[in-house]
Amino acid sequence: MSTSSELASGQLGGRAMRRVVYSEEQIAERVAEMAQEITAHFGPDDELLVLGLLKGSFIFLADLVRRIDRPLHLDFLVASSYGSDTVSSGDLQLLYDPGASLEGRSVVIVEDIVDSGHTLQRLFPLMRAREPRSLDVCTLLHKRLVSLDPEVRWVGFDAPREFLVGYGLDHAEDFRHLPFIASL
Ligand code: IMP
Ligand code: MG
Repeated sequence: MSTSSELASGQLGGRAMRRVVYSEEQIAERVAEMAQEITAHFGPDDELLVLGLLKGSFIFLADLVRRIDRPLHLDFLVASSYGSDTVSSGDLQLLYDPGASLEGRSVVIVEDIVDSGHTLQRLFPLMRAREPRSLDVCTLLHKRLVSLDPEVRWVGFDAPREFLVGYGLDHAEDFRHLPFIASL
């Protein structure tokens, strides 16, 4: 557990925090912009379904949807990838699959951070097979290590290639609750 005195001294759970990368204010401003872009992108005929990839996206998702000014439904996905060290043999298992049907709906997958891109690259075909009207990704952070096909439509920040924690992102389940994003 980190305490405010730990944060003040630059320590998180006994680990040195190198720096705050995105402050609470910077995140709030960017999330509001992204929500406006998403609001403007869809038309009156779109049945919007926002799917949050747990657990990392939970805080971003909660802040984002409250700023989207149009009707939408919300559900979650829990994906677990095996063999992530070996790209070719890696498989993606859905530990929680949304109850909601994707067919004919405008689906936006919400991710915390795109790193290797493996999670999304494996998730796309599974989701596309369910015949959504459209399928887009919104991520808060993108390390730009890979280009995806299709590319992520909404990116909050091009992130530094460091290990980031806070605002939902964890290191071994620590630090998810921090209101800002820091590098370890
Ligand atoms: P990818 O499949 O390699 O793109 O990995 C994506 C997932 O790995 C994200 O949803 C995060 O949960 C986790 N991840 C990748 N980079 C970081 C990081 O810098 N901090 C915390 N989690 C990360
Ligand atoms: Mg994670």
